[in-house]
Amino acid sequence: EEPPAAMAVPQVGQDGLVLLRRVGVVDPESLDDYRAHGGYTALRRAFELGPAGVVREVSDSGLVGRGGAAFPTGRKWQATASQPDHPHYLVCNADESEPGTFKDRVIMEGDPYALVEAMTIAGYATGAHKGYLYLRGEYPRALRRLERAIAQARARGFLGEDVLGQGYAFDIEIRRGAGAYICGEETALFNSIEGYRGEPRSKPPFPVEKGLFGKPTVENNVETLVNVLPILTMGAPAYAAIGTAGSTGPKLFCVSGSVDRPGIYELPFGATLGDLLTRAGVRDRLRAVLLGGAAGGFVRPDELEIPLTFEGTREAGTTLGSGVVMAFDDTVPLPRLLLRIAEFFRDESCGQCVPCRVGTVRQEEALHRIAERTGAAAADDIALLREVGRAMRDASICGLGQTAWNAVESAIDRLGAYE
Ligand code: NAI
Ligand code: SF4
Repeated sequence: EEPPAAMAVPQVGQDGLVLLRRVGVVDPESLDDYRAHGGYTALRRAFELGPAGVVREVSDSGLVGRGGAAFPTGRKWQATASQPDHPHYLVCNADESEPGTFKDRVIMEGDPYALVEAMTIAGYATGAHKGYLYLRGEYPRALRRLERAIAQARARGFLGEDVLGQGYAFDIEIRRGAGAYICGEETALFNSIEGYRGEPRSKPPFPVEKGLFGKPTVENNVETLVNVLPILTMGAPAYAAIGTAGSTGPKLFCVSGSVDRPGIYELPFGATLGDLLTRAGVRDRLRAVLLGGAAGGFVRPDELEIPLTFEGTREAGTTLGSGVVMAFDDTVPLPRLLLRIAEFFRDESCGQCVPCRVGTVRQEEALHRIAERTGAAAADDIALLREVGRAMRDASICGLGQTAWNAVESAIDRLGAYE
């Protein structure tokens, strides 16, 4: 069944937007309209710069990954481009599944050609001739629009054997996820494409060296890739002037929960959490804000001055992750919310490694007991939660297990959830 359209973008057509400037303005089913709104100027610029020049621009821009981990994109591209082993692959991770994250969906539904163009540039820069777009299974509208965009681009010479007559061959294949959160982990995603169970691989080796089909692979999130378009059209210095020194460029924030105007907000890095929540119409009686989704952490209503940058959130002992901002007022029962998060991780654990497979079950059980009891018994279970949480963080193979205790820990330590 078709889900409702992605939440409204509050600032459609507003001046100053970079990433969302075409969303809600351009016809997402028309290549001509995309071109009439500046589409494909970045790819032409890429061909002028050559692959090494594109990698240099991306490095100089300071762009870091927007999937949540903030790894420098230029370093990733450089590392893949320089691998002697061939072929190289490009993978776009569009399996957006972090609870509260819906930014990539807005781009893919509203400006699908931008992603097609950005993938072509990324492939060119890193020496890949094939790009896989791994799309979340629950995004049927995005699928239709991307399929159409790819077919039109191919028919008009923007993809295929000789892109824009420049002697560069590149094409894109869409693969659909089937509802497993873990398949958004970059190496589980490779296994899924290859036809194996969606279980994460141990890293290193990193994908830049041994990724899809064991070959050098660049994997980037949708939002990361579309940032490459303004980097090339405005130039790295102008792009790097947006935001802060440690977090350059514009950022999409996914605001939901106890706010009057939920949706995607584009702001330059550096705005505070309070700035963003004010725009979204934060309600009275705010009790907590979850930053970074289920894998992130809670902050208190007296911490709204936290700058929304990677360095600012780190300094405040929390995380920006993929840009999730979920507000909760005091009508939301925290113990129920924490149980829901614990249930999510227990359900989505792939079960491959013991700390996560067992730890997520123990965590949920302890939270159930705490919800039913108080006093000394609760203190014992909180001690158990800490022990299990430490084991998951230290010994799990992938980010799912390593972060499964973050939200619960922050609720206990920062919000005093069970006091
Ligand atoms: P990570 O820190 O292991 O890796 C980040 C990226 O950098 C990966 O592509 C990795 O291959 C690359 N990398 C790291 N070190 C490298 C090196 N030395 N050389 C070359 N490449 C290197 O983080 P991970 O596990 O990929 O992502 C965790 C993040 O994902 C969390 O912050 C979480 O918030 C976020 N996340 C986002 C979701 C979404 O729907 N957007 C869903 C679930 C988690
Ligand atoms: Fe699977 Fe969890 Fe281990 Fe990741 S940490 S490999 S999800 S069991």
